[in-house]
Amino acid sequence: MKDASRSNWWRYGVASVAVIGLGVLVWIAANTYTGDVGTPIPERVVDMNGKTVFTGADIIAGQQVFQRYGLMENGTIWGHGAYLGPDFSAAYLHQLALDTKDPTTLSENRYNAKTGTLLFTTSESASYHSQINQWKTYFDGSVTSRGLSAKTISDPEELRTLVAFFAWTAWGAAAHMPGKSYSYTQNFPYEPLLHNGPSAEAVLWSALSLITLLGGIGAMLLAFGRFDFLGWGSRDAHVHPQLLPDRTSPSQRATLKFFVIVALLFLVQTLVGGAVAHYRAQPGSFYGLDLTAYLPSNLLRTWHLQSSIFWIVTAYVGGGLFLADALGSVEPRGQVRGINILWVMLLFVVVGSMLGELIGIRQLAGRLWFWFGNQGWEYLDLGRAWQILLVLGLGFWVILLARAIGSARQDPEQREIATLFLISAATIPLFYLPAFFFGSETRFTIVDTWRFWIVHLWVEAFLELFVTVMVATLFYKLGMVTRQRASRVIYMDALLFLGSGIIGTGHHWYFSGQTVASMALSSMFSAMEVVPLILLTLDATHFVHLNREYCNICGKSISLPHKWTFYFLIAVGVWNFIGAGVFGFLINLPVVSYYEIGTNLTANHAHAALMGVFGMLAVALLVFAVRQVSSEAHWARMEKYVRVSFWGLNLGLAGMVVLDLFPSGVLQFLDVMKNGYWHARSAEFSNQPFIVAMEWARMPTDLVFIFVGVVPLVIITLLTYRHARAEKSMILNASQSDRDELKN
Ligand code: HEM
Ligand SMILES: [Fe+2]
Repeated sequence: MKDASRSNWWRYGVASVAVIGLGVLVWIAANTYTGDVGTPIPERVVDMNGKTVFTGADIIAGQQVFQRYGLMENGTIWGHGAYLGPDFSAAYLHQLALDTKDPTTLSENRYNAKTGTLLFTTSESASYHSQINQWKTYFDGSVTSRGLSAKTISDPEELRTLVAFFAWTAWGAAAHMPGKSYSYTQNFPYEPLLHNGPSAEAVLWSALSLITLLGGIGAMLLAFGRFDFLGWGSRDAHVHPQLLPDRTSPSQRATLKFFVIVALLFLVQTLVGGAVAHYRAQPGSFYGLDLTAYLPSNLLRTWHLQSSIFWIVTAYVGGGLFLADALGSVEPRGQVRGINILWVMLLFVVVGSMLGELIGIRQLAGRLWFWFGNQGWEYLDLGRAWQILLVLGLGFWVILLARAIGSARQDPEQREIATLFLISAATIPLFYLPAFFFGSETRFTIVDTWRFWIVHLWVEAFLELFVTVMVATLFYKLGMVTRQRASRVIYMDALLFLGSGIIGTGHHWYFSGQTVASMALSSMFSAMEVVPLILLTLDATHFVHLNREYCNICGKSISLPHKWTFYFLIAVGVWNFIGAGVFGFLINLPVVSYYEIGTNLTANHAHAALMGVFGMLAVALLVFAVRQVSSEAHWARMEKYVRVSFWGLNLGLAGMVVLDLFPSGVLQFLDVMKNGYWHARSAEFSNQPFIVAMEWARMPTDLVFIFVGVVPLVIITLLTYRHARAEKSMILNASQSDRDELKN
């Protein structure tokens, strides 16, 4: 009874934190639709003679050109996008500043909201006309474009509207908001010619956010000193293992084919990543070949990101099915068929959307580009139709999980953890829905608001939650922790992740046209995101101890067939701290982000956190599934590949961080402060010999990552898939009753 009321308190706590956080986020998102948030789109831009320079419709048409040609996978707008090419808004603004006699006058706001007219000075309109020609050279496949194909955009009308879009973003970056001392983008980007710099608000909230960070860490340490029941520590009696290798159900064996996709996609992603890195090291050619003619860098980077999301999500889909089946005691009828249908759906979306991106970027999708081709928003590049199928697929996955878990929800012992499993899984498709809240004509600030509802809320809130639930279920089923401890850790982590991560979303919106209130709230809350990450690292050290425990009921040592799954979980803990905690916090203060956004320090954090945390966890699930379906003899052959892969992945990732991403990011950050954002993002900066040398230096570690880390995973999944099929046919030949079981 006491236990039940304690659980209720946890439940109410987590639910209120989630509701309050999402309430705040809805309020911020709703604000972006009001006139004074984000850069307004004028109906007409006119010159001093009253002649139209371009119209609001041109700006939107230009944004669509930007999307259709996949340019957000080449460069950035207001710091968001890819880092190979320039920041288009900063580069335009810098040229405009050079073309203006007194660039500080660019901060004057000549937009009349009543008439919808924006007045351009003579130098502003002259700069616009002359920049059309300059950008023509860039989009003709110049070396500075870093891998765009020759004649990417040659249609004069497309160029004219695209440059109007750039001009509008530059205007929003320079012109002060009515009644304010900073621009629509909070003075981003830093441009010395404009004498701008971070707004006073950015400095203030940076300093204040340190309070929540230190307060949060203090409170956590206090709580852990005071209550010893909070972490994974195993002082309570353990439950005997309920999951033993080589005793798998038909649906668990059917799930193995998901991990075959995981490993193959992982290989594709890293090979493509190698090619993207090559575009940085040697922009003009690929060992003498003009790769841009076939696989331009914007297409490859689109694939690099999309395939990373796909293989990681596929591993969670597979891992979820595997563990759900372990929770439930009855195999539902037709579950194997459902799993096979889901697998086909997933493969269809993966292959279909990636081909769509190819035909989209090559302009072969015609008017259907947005639906079936390349939608062009970074991370959400795939066409709308593929996104709908993806959500339907994930919804179907939740139904399959519910079926598998059904019997566990009748069992009082397992009810709570089974329910948490299902709710946390359902948040994954649910929080993809904001992808449908905008179209290709929506204003950039609104798009970016919803885009980060997905990108950020997935990785820093709901995926973290689902991961915690999966790990808790795994530990419980392996007999390492009691169900009380498993559910307590889930509630505790949920409280911390959702409490900090939901409102923290706005750390991506500091400079994309949002309000100061959004900056203030998000910097204060996202600084606290580091707290649960420290906790996870402390937990990782517990995993090592759990590995060496003796049962205090029967005295036997707890034998752990899943040693390598645990090693990968330890890696998750360590990278969570370094990649997400340290490298994430490094770029989190608004005043740091002002100079840092879109430099290699972002790539540094993104690789160490996304691969280090969610990637390593995906591999942990893969290794777990492979071990479960393996006989002892088969596993004896597989284990050495897993060991090699563990070291290949970790050393390879560490190598690319230490040799290139971190040091070159620091130098680029310094260059922003010395020469302005446009310069640090230009070819002038990245073609310097020592920057290029760093790009080459990481190549050996990239190769270690791919050939020592990823290839062994491909080998074990293929061999184990064959092994599981062979076992299945042995059973099929065995008896009628077994055959009936398999049919289900
Ligand atoms: C496992 C957890 C995390 C993952 C997988 C992750 C992943 C990423 C990725 C992929 C990006 C790049 C987004 C883009 O290019 O637009 C990013 C950006 C960012 N992350 Fe994280 N992150 C994690 C945790 C954190 C934490 C804990 C913090 C801060 C305390 C943080 C702060 C930031 C900031 C400020 C940016 C924006 C940088 C920019 O736009 O240039 N992240 N993160
Ligand atoms: Fe984030």
